[in-house]
Amino acid sequence: MQEIVQQIKGKQVAERKFPFLLNEGIIFPPQLNLEQSSSEKTAIYKSGILTGSSFIDLTSGFGIDAYYLSENFDNITLVEQNSDLLSLVEHNWSILKRKAKFVNRKLEDFLKENREEFDVVYLDPARRDQNKNKVFLLEDLSPNILEIQEKLRSISKQVVIKLSPLIDLRYLISEVSNIFRIDIIALKNDVKEVVIFLSNEIPSEIVCNAVNLESGEPSFTFTIGEEEKAESEFSEPEKFIYIPNHSILKAGIFNLISKRCGLKKLHPNTHIYTSGEKKNDFPGRVFEMEVIDSKKIKKKEQYNIISKNYPLKPEEIKKKYGLKDGGEHYLIFTQSKKGKIILKSV
Ligand SMILES: C[S@@+](CC[C@H](N)C(=O)[O-])C[C@H]1O[C@@H](n2cnc3c(N)ncnc32)[C@H](O)[C@@H]1O
Repeated sequence: MQEIVQQIKGKQVAERKFPFLLNEGIIFPPQLNLEQSSSEKTAIYKSGILTGSSFIDLTSGFGIDAYYLSENFDNITLVEQNSDLLSLVEHNWSILKRKAKFVNRKLEDFLKENREEFDVVYLDPARRDQNKNKVFLLEDLSPNILEIQEKLRSISKQVVIKLSPLIDLRYLISEVSNIFRIDIIALKNDVKEVVIFLSNEIPSEIVCNAVNLESGEPSFTFTIGEEEKAESEFSEPEKFIYIPNHSILKAGIFNLISKRCGLKKLHPNTHIYTSGEKKNDFPGRVFEMEVIDSKKIKKKEQYNIISKNYPLKPEEIKKKYGLKDGGEHYLIFTQSKKGKIILKSV
């Protein structure tokens, strides 16, 4: 009975996260392994970045990342400590007609004996402790990448590590050596992954890509350090209002986005931008808006409410003004340099 429930749950998750596995004969693992797997969409994005001859995933898990990331490689190795999980991946890959070497070991033991070099080494460390609680510090991940980073760099020119979307970028850069690229990957404006790329040589700079998949928005590339040199111009709201997507906000490039896109910022702590003429290709949402007096807001009107750098949350604003949620129009409650303001979409 338990096994049947596991398979039904697996299919439900697969419909949402990895529909390519909705095939006859595919077996799904327990819930935790499904939760830990990457989604097909972020894996496809990463697969577009990586090519070479040999690929190794040292934390295979259910193998979603491995399946896509290894697409452009000839020799594929999957390492996983959980033998049941790895056998299941081996079975599924035979159905999918994908060949790989499957190694059921702790990766630390594998690394001790390994003499091979790989074009790409990939890791997606587990973010749960033994009691299945979420962990946030690099040293609490399994494996502890701080302990093995040097060893990893010694077997590849490119080590790729997937990390939590909550990880602090400054902390990351201070703890992990030789990072040459960081990708902040959002899917429909929800940041899913922070992926770091390590080189076996000291890189001259760190290139960062803020990406919002399936949004139609362009990705934004910059180097770490550019934000410190950038300055924003400030202005009261003009005709167009811009709200950056969450990958940009996660990157913390609040001045750089203003400078590069030719936009003015409303306030040092308000990450909303403005311009008189519409700028295309902004990585976020663009509205045509006007500043309104709060007296113009009528009870029972329907709005999408956004609150940024404003003392009340959207729910509290809705209550205060007796508004209904949704509809076509937006109200933004925020602050410019002159003080609190309300913007209404036209
Ligand atoms: C987050 S999951 C990987 C999910 C995978 N990227 C996917 O898309 O399906 C992490 C996996 O790493 C394995 N793992 C953690 N520490 C390990 C270690 N020291 N040696 C080998 N495998 C390990 C865990 O058993 C778990 O299956």
